[in-house]
Amino acid sequence: MFVLMEARGLHKNFGTFEAVRGIDLTLKKGEVLGFLGPNGAGKTTTMKMLTGFLAPSSGSATICGQLVTTGNYKARSKVGYLPEGAPLYGDMTTRSFLRFMASAHGIAQEEAYQIVESAASAVHLENVMEQRVETLSKGYTRRVGLAAAIMHSPDVLILDEPTDGLDPNQKHEVRRLIQAMSVDRGIIISTHILEEVDALCTRAVIINKGQIVADGTPSQLKVMSRYCNAVTLVVLTEEAEKIASAVRRVGGVREIEAANEGTYVRLTILAQDDVDIVDSINDIAGLSNWNIQQFSVETGRLDDVFGRLTNDGGY
Ligand SMILES: Nc1ncnc2c1ncn2[C@@H]1O[C@H](COP(=O)(O)OP(=O)(O)O)[C@@H](O)[C@H]1O
Ligand SMILES: [Mg+2]
Repeated sequence: MFVLMEARGLHKNFGTFEAVRGIDLTLKKGEVLGFLGPNGAGKTTTMKMLTGFLAPSSGSATICGQLVTTGNYKARSKVGYLPEGAPLYGDMTTRSFLRFMASAHGIAQEEAYQIVESAASAVHLENVMEQRVETLSKGYTRRVGLAAAIMHSPDVLILDEPTDGLDPNQKHEVRRLIQAMSVDRGIIISTHILEEVDALCTRAVIINKGQIVADGTPSQLKVMSRYCNAVTLVVLTEEAEKIASAVRRVGGVREIEAANEGTYVRLTILAQDDVDIVDSINDIAGLSNWNIQQFSVETGRLDDVFGRLTNDGGY
């Protein structure tokens, strides 16, 4: 796949505080890279360096072979940026704001009309073009930010928490738009919403305290979870204890979690690292006369991986 953006050894110090401590990233065409990390991990600072808004203390980033610097407009023109919270000039109408952004992108006036209208229609803003930005809903405001980020047809989009503060329907709509935008570009989105990674991202990078602690596809990351290959049995409450104690004796079983669900109990059976317990549990369940309502196997849980990699003292 075609490499669009590459960062090597990005560092950023604020005084003596090291906010970003050596980030390496590669973004390819068609990828939606999820940039995950707790608050304060350094996501926004890294994104500002990738877009040329902030100069790194050391290290560098290139986009389509061009070095990203605060003064290299050729590189910066290849990046579209949705800043955190998407600050907008509220007293402008949607159309006048987008016209203003077009001139900030250096788009000539004679082209600006067409470019603004097509960016606006790509994110369905047609009905609010004459409305003042400060009167728009959060969902529409975010779409105005997205239109501003894509209007100069950048190869790379960098979106800082694009769904933050939106209601579930607005989140869904913004994710749909991002997915559509990823077809012939590369996109980096920061988020701390893990379901977003499953819904949207082809790859995820987890950062903690300014450093990358994991990098892989969502399924590769889930393999690192304690719940990878865990077996769930939903069983009758009166049989739960008997079943749990039989299952506990199966080789490779590490731990059993139990949760009450009315007349049933959900037993989640965790495996020791790299041991496949599914067949053994299936066998013993088949030979016994247990009343099993549900038998399922987990691929792993991102929240578990995220929590263990970003909590102090984890892993
Ligand atoms: N301009 C600044 N001056 C001093 N500290 C800053 C500045 N910008 C960010 N920081 C600090 O750097 C760390 C990383 O911040 P940030 O990149 O915003 O994290 P995230 O986006 O992952 O929440 C935080 O501890 C934050 O307080
Ligand atoms: Mg941030």
